[in-house]
This record gives sequence, C-alpha cells and structure tokens, in this order.
Amino acid sequence: MRFLVTGSAGFIGYHLCRQLLAHGHQVDGIDGMTDYYDPALKRARHGQLSTTNLFRAHEVMLEDMEALTRIVGETQADVVVHLAAQAGVRYSMEEPRSYVSANIVGTFNLLEALRAAPVSHLMLASTSSVYGANDMPFAESDRTDHPLSFYAATKKATEVMAHSYAHLWNQPTTIMRFFTVYGPWGRPDMALFKFTRSILEGKPIDIYNAGKMQRDFTYVEDAVEGIIRLADIAPTRADSLAADPAGSPAAPWRVVNIAGGKPVELDAYIGAIEAATGRVAIRNELPMPTGEPQSTLAATRELERLTGFLPSTPVETGVRAFVDWYRDFYKV
Ligand SMILES: NC(=O)c1ccc[n+]([C@@H]2O[C@H](COP(=O)([O-])OP(=O)(O)OC[C@H]3O[C@@H](n4cnc5c(N)ncnc54)[C@H](O)[C@@H]3O)[C@@H](O)[C@H]2O)c1
Repeated sequence: MRFLVTGSAGFIGYHLCRQLLAHGHQVDGIDGMTDYYDPALKRARHGQLSTTNLFRAHEVMLEDMEALTRIVGETQADVVVHLAAQAGVRYSMEEPRSYVSANIVGTFNLLEALRAAPVSHLMLASTSSVYGANDMPFAESDRTDHPLSFYAATKKATEVMAHSYAHLWNQPTTIMRFFTVYGPWGRPDMALFKFTRSILEGKPIDIYNAGKMQRDFTYVEDAVEGIIRLADIAPTRADSLAADPAGSPAAPWRVVNIAGGKPVELDAYIGAIEAATGRVAIRNELPMPTGEPQSTLAATRELERLTGFLPSTPVETGVRAFVDWYRDFYKV
C-alpha cells in the first residue's frame, strides 16, 4: 500500500514510517521541521528513514497550500496519516497562534487537498486532552466540549472539521486520540526526555503535585501497532449507522482511543527512569500547573473491538528502551 504521513520527522511519525517501511509499504513523508524542538533530532529521524528508496521525504509546511496540494495529488496514497501538529499543552499558553496555524489552518489545508484527491482512509491524530476534566475512564462517546488547554481546543476543532468533510465529501476518517506516548527518539519537551537528561546531568527535576499524577502511558511501538491495525479498518456510513459507539450517524467517521487503559503514577514512572539510569533523581517539588489534567485513563473497548489489540508494554521496559536510546544518541 502507499501511505502519506504528515509529521514524518516527528516522534510518532518517525516510528510509524519505520514500521510501514519494514512491512514493505511505500511511504511519502511531509514535515516542515518546525523549531518547537531541535530540528537536528527531526533531521536525524528523517535520515534514518531515507536509507530505503521506499521512502520519499518532503520538507514542506502544511500552510503551503500549493505544495501540499501537489504532493497529495502526486502521491495518490491509499491511506493518509495526519500527525503533523503543534503539540504540547503548556506551550499553548505561550504561543497560541502557532496552534491555530499548524493545527487548524494546516488540517484545513490537508482536508481541502484531499477533497481533490480523496483517499481510502484518512487517519488524524488527536489527544486525550480533549477529555478535559471528564470522569474517567475517558470513552470516545463522552462529550468533549470543555477543553482545559488551547492545544486541546485546536485538536477538538480538527476532529469536528474532519467530521464535516467526512460527511460532505464521503472521506472515511478515523480520529486517533493518543495518551502520553513515550519511547526512544522521544520529544525533548516531554517529561521522560527532560527527566532523563536532568537525572544523568545530576540536575533537579520539576515534579508537579508531589508526583501524584497518573497517566495512561502508551509505548510508541504499541501506539504504532494500533495505527497500522486501524489503517485497514476504514469506517463506512453503514457501520456508523449500526452500533458503533465511537462513530457518527452522519458520516464515515469514528474516534478511537489509542491506549492500554492502565494508568501509572508519575512517581512510578520516575522510579523506572532511576532504575534505568542507575541514578537517584533530585526532586524540585512544584504545584500542579494549569491546563494539565491530574489523571488520564482511556476506555479501550473500541480499540480492542476493532483491532483485537491493546497496548501492554510495561513502563519499566519502555523507559529502559528510551534511556538506552538517549545514552547512545547523545553519547552520555
Ligand atoms: N506524543 C504524545 O504523547 C501525543 C499525545 C497526544 C497526541 N499527540 C499528537 O500526535 C501527533 C504526533 O505527535 P508527536 O509526539 O510525534 O509530535 P512531534 O512534535 O514530534 O511531531 C510533529 C511533527 O509535525 C511537524 N510539524 C509541526 N507543525 C507543522 C506544520 N505546520 N507543517 C508541517 N509540519 C509540521 C513537526 O516538525 C514535527 O516533526 C501530533 O498531532 C500530536 O498532537 C501526541
């Protein structure tokens, strides 16, 4: 099959492309190499992917409608996986406009480009943050009208924009809500990366709410397995009208949480980093930041029903894989 992946030099995009190439698929990757975090890490990821001629890289911003339309038209993909975005909860208080540009304008441009060149399946990345302060576990059929961060608000907007296009232009679309994805080649703005770097440098780590936060951490290889399995199961109008609790009565569109449904306390996560690095963390205790939920926990029935698969890599294993990668990549 032929895949077009946006955000292919990003953390999840890189792992997805690597697995797709290993399965023998052709992959076109689009990434604008934004400087939200070190573009050298993004270029290194693209460099790894470019060792096979099944992969074609396009260094393009989603905001460049002309280039995007050309690439979408030329690629003639079967499946588009749209991962490119301005991510991060806290940064959305500092630079909210970059979220409007990448997430709202960028997704709109992709939807428009696909209107001229529809695909069998569009898969779009969303986030557990859209659940806000809902009761847990977070189920796909829950209301998600009360985001706590502007990041979540823009992601919710992309979900419903995609719904209208799925309805109007019959574009089968799956919304994937990810829950704190972690693993090797991970993002420098995320806790695992920051904690590992500080612990190895003997510097203190910022711990919010005395570590009494829980996250439904998802190992990146598990998240990718979920994406690849879902790629073959495009929603249709018929399933949406039948008993698909995550579907829509009006469009070939569905939402799926991608997570294992096993929350881990931040303290246990830090313990896994300490074990993997062989060092004890110096803790700088801070109050809970605004916009961050205290806990996330996914309902996983939809993912399991559709794919027969659930993420299950233990955090000890996943954290160790990250620390091994970090030490090797940064030679520390
Ligand atoms: N990692 C997680 O825990 C997590 C959790 C929930 C949702 N998500 C979502 O999953 C997707 C992938 O996340 P990630 O962790 O790989 O993030 P990432 O930041 O590593 O990857 C995103 C990539 O998109 C590119 N990009 C950003 N804006 C762009 C634009 N306007 N045009 C072209 N390229 C652009 C960036 O250069 C980057 O390489 C994102 O949509 C994110 O919101 C991630």
